[in-house]
Amino acid sequence: MTAQLIDGNALARQIRADVSGRTAALQARGIQPTLAIVLVGDDPASQVYVKHKVNDSSETGLVANLERHPAGMSEAALLARIHALNDDPAVHGILVQLPLPKHMDSHKVIEAISPAKDVDGFHVASAGALMVGQPGFWPCTPHGCLKMLDSIGYELRGKHAVVIGRSNIVGKPMAMMLLGRSATVTICHSATADLGAITRQADVIVAAVGKQNLVTADMVKPGAVVLDVGMNRNAEGKLCGDVDFDAVKEVASWITPVPGGVGPMTRAMLLVNTLEAAERAAG
Ligand code: GUN
Repeated sequence: MTAQLIDGNALARQIRADVSGRTAALQARGIQPTLAIVLVGDDPASQVYVKHKVNDSSETGLVANLERHPAGMSEAALLARIHALNDDPAVHGILVQLPLPKHMDSHKVIEAISPAKDVDGFHVASAGALMVGQPGFWPCTPHGCLKMLDSIGYELRGKHAVVIGRSNIVGKPMAMMLLGRSATVTICHSATADLGAITRQADVIVAAVGKQNLVTADMVKPGAVVLDVGMNRNAEGKLCGDVDFDAVKEVASWITPVPGGVGPMTRAMLLVNTLEAAERAAG
């Protein structure tokens, strides 16, 4: 079997088109959906990420205000800035780019963001809302993965999904979302003994550890759907995921590529969350 590709670029394009339409509808009511992006310091990868977020936003009619602060900014000053953004009715979403400089407590900073503006979905209130099935903001990467499964018409009910990775922003929320769709969910991680024995039972595998070739063909049940959240560099410096793509695509029924898979979907879901925040504020 050669798997079909789930094209993250194409799906993200459709989602951006939908966001553009909904943004125009809000603008017609005099509301300009606006995202505040807070960047502290000069981490090179973060510079690239925020540039993409600003470009994606403007392409869909959202306004993204990028504010850059020096690496030496005090934590108190950053918290004060977040409180000001919380209180600004013209700002609908707040994103504090991570990582923050070492002298700051990232958890404390994220908790300062109003849950109503937490478009990253990283706040404890957002995680709790997902856990108990209440409205909130879902983290962008696992939400993008769920949209990818929806795009192929995949029925999760009664299926076994194995999530590899237990981060607060991908693995754990992904497991909750899959459980919410009535899948049976197993969460594994890099220390799981005999990972293959578990993944071979999976109808859906979500790999989110950050380790090249973590998922090999012998670990995949024929016909399984494989979503690759990994973002690694191989020996030649090329971007690659956690899945041995060339071999696994011969076993899986559907697979996401890296690049062009989950990555563009993460970016698209940030736009969706920002628009959603503006729509909720508008009532
Ligand atoms: N740093 C790397 N990815 C992300 C992300 O999705 N959100 C934030 N806030 N920081 C990041």
